Amino acid sequence: MSKILSTTPLFEVEAERLGADGHELWMPSQPGTLLREDLLSRLPEADALLCLLSDRIDAELLCAGSRLKLVANIGVGYENIDIESAQDLGIAVTNTPDVLTEATADMTFALLLAAARRIPEANAALRAGQFPAWRLDQPLLGLDVHGKTLGILGMGRIGAAVARRGRHGFVMRVLYHNRSRKKEFEEEIGAEFVAFERLLRESDFLCVHVPGTDETRHLIDADALALMKSTAILVNAARGPVVDEAALAEALATGTIAGAGLDVFEREPDVHPRLLETSERVVLTPHLGSATRDTRRAMVRLAVDNVLAVLSGERPITPV
Ligand code: 8YV
Repeated sequence: MSKILSTTPLFEVEAERLGADGHELWMPSQPGTLLREDLLSRLPEADALLCLLSDRIDAELLCAGSRLKLVANIGVGYENIDIESAQDLGIAVTNTPDVLTEATADMTFALLLAAARRIPEANAALRAGQFPAWRLDQPLLGLDVHGKTLGILGMGRIGAAVARRGRHGFVMRVLYHNRSRKKEFEEEIGAEFVAFERLLRESDFLCVHVPGTDETRHLIDADALALMKSTAILVNAARGPVVDEAALAEALATGTIAGAGLDVFEREPDVHPRLLETSERVVLTPHLGSATRDTRRAMVRLAVDNVLAVLSGERPITPV
């Protein structure tokens, strides 16, 4: 019998699957309540650890897990885990790619549309009793989305899914920048590979889809924002640190760009106070990219599948 530790309560059906396979599962009764000391003291017993992006799994924790065979992250990004130390200690690490691609792409497009068409502002105004009389230049005029230029920074699975929505759903011209050219997406989506500067200059909607690494930190800084169109909207449902939040707040305040849809932030759960002050064409959501019922279930299912595979001596299904 193996012992499995989860930093968060799992869906019942998945907890039952682990039990049915003869494993013993320990998980806290409430999310966000497991203290680091508690995790440290439980790890020496654990054969597998299920965790979230918000759990920093560093070398100290990994070393404490002297029996650990696997760390299964419930999420596609895994910058919360010290991968090198895990490798040195012979601990496998898995993530949950693919299952959240479409939900995250939906969220990206929802932010894009909400910022362009000022839906949160309109919603707030209507609830405050304002139903402006018909006038041609009504105060909540938005920006067209269809037929505009969609810029994709990072043409991975999620970037491609957003590009497809733009191309096929909104007849947009799609430009992208990526470390390497993705010929298959160019053909499939009709996307054009361009230099980073050209992506910034020509995009009406710039969507960030790169992972959060040292190389991508502040890729969108004051200089990058200055190259963007004054009518452009920046959308980020990838990782907060890719965008310099102070520079973005300044760019929004001074009209360097027209708006932003942000689901991720540099120092979650904190949000730059100047961003909180902006509302015109600025939409902020609390890291909801994968937060649909079906997708969260699929993520946990895949993480549990990885645990079951590794504990029965098979190879992990989705190793990082
Ligand atoms: C999750 C995410 O909310 O998968 C990711 O990388 O950012 C989100 O899907 C998060 O990972 C939950 O742990």
